[in-house]
Amino acid sequence: MVPNRRAMPLRCGLVLCVLMVLWAAPILAQRRIEVTLTAAPARLSLVPGATTELFAYNGRFPGPTLEFREGDRVTVHFRNDLPEPTTIHWHGLNLPFAADGSPFHPVAPGETYDYVFTIQPGTAGTYWYHPHPHHRTGYQIAKGLYGAVIVRATDDPLRGLPEKLLVISDNRFAADGSIDLPASLTPTGIADRENGREGDVIFVNGAVMPTIAIRAGEVQRWRVINASAARVYRLALPGHKLLHVGSDGGLFERPVEVEELVVANAERVEFLVRGTGSPGDRVVLQALPYDRYIPQTRPATWNQPRELLALQYTTKSPKRAASIPAVLRHVPVLDTTQATARRLMVLTQGMINGQLMDPDRIDVAAILDATEIWEIENLVGMDHPFHLHGFQFQVLDRNGVPEPFRSWKDVVNVPKHGTARFIVRYANFPGKWMFHCHILDHEDHGMMGILDVSVPGQRSAKR
Ligand code: C2O
Ligand code: CU
Ligand code: CU
Repeated sequence: MVPNRRAMPLRCGLVLCVLMVLWAAPILAQRRIEVTLTAAPARLSLVPGATTELFAYNGRFPGPTLEFREGDRVTVHFRNDLPEPTTIHWHGLNLPFAADGSPFHPVAPGETYDYVFTIQPGTAGTYWYHPHPHHRTGYQIAKGLYGAVIVRATDDPLRGLPEKLLVISDNRFAADGSIDLPASLTPTGIADRENGREGDVIFVNGAVMPTIAIRAGEVQRWRVINASAARVYRLALPGHKLLHVGSDGGLFERPVEVEELVVANAERVEFLVRGTGSPGDRVVLQALPYDRYIPQTRPATWNQPRELLALQYTTKSPKRAASIPAVLRHVPVLDTTQATARRLMVLTQGMINGQLMDPDRIDVAAILDATEIWEIENLVGMDHPFHLHGFQFQVLDRNGVPEPFRSWKDVVNVPKHGTARFIVRYANFPGKWMFHCHILDHEDHGMMGILDVSVPGQRSAKR
């Protein structure tokens, strides 16, 4: 309460009252969202003629898509009914350390954990959730644990466009339908460890080669999540140029027309598909060959294009195309002159700065609210997609070439013998944040480090 309110002149009181309502409005509008997720073994039919024993969130593969709005206060009541420890990591979301689901907060079999976080303003975008237990992330994701998160803005410039969500992943199965997870010392196990595990069956939302319907003239907004352990998709839709509108952390300032889009594992893209075909046409979304491998272990089939889904034009007469805004939103600039430290990360095969992950070691000690520049240098002949927890960053340049426009990212694919630089501000949450290669086999074998963001004068985050 405002003290001595009655003593104030009437007009001043009114102004105050209006101000208080304005201030309170966003808080009153905040929704409280409660979600219940249980991870448990399940049996589902994933490949024709067999059932597969997998792990699933709420019995579904992929797990349920969670939709939030900026400002939502979210509680996820999680229960682990798996036979092993797990976590849920909210990949890309800016949230408190205790809700990050990193290896520091394992949930034992039979236990529950509440992930509590507020969806930050300006973070509308496409994210995903997946387990992150020590050494077992790749295994549990291969067993089927991942799902999509969509964060919506109240003033979405693309509101009204029909939306499609594509959660893309690959997997490998034995003849009996079981998930093929070779022992680590077999030839396939060794190849998986080197390349990251890839599979010949490609799923879009848990289905093989699904169909999306479009009417001629229609404009659709597609959100793509690459939930694969290692496979990179070079997406192309023959006869269609794509309008790239967003990346990991949401929309760009302006749409960008492209012929194809490379989506490294763990990355997300948003693009508009314009139905420029004719009624009855059928086109296939393809993954064109992308050479991320060292020649010695490159799979023999690497240069075969893959088919992901069919886009089927309805027979309806063309529709008048929706207009696409020229400006999508403002993406604030992270000012390089404010950077107070430069961090060099040298990637070799399986290691960062010559070291394997040690949960008791801090690799980067930083202070809350600092802005820093990270330079990721890849010394080897294989791409490594580099991911940072906790904070979205902006890529400054790749191989010295300035990034053509600003966007929020949490993964940057660092190509073989290449370099990427990004700028990041540890704006809000102290804690121990992982950074790692998102090829899951590399991550699980220790290609990971810890950024400790602390508040001056306070002890750093407890484990
Ligand atoms: Cu999507 Cu630390 O991971
Ligand atoms: Cu993450
Ligand atoms: Cu790697």
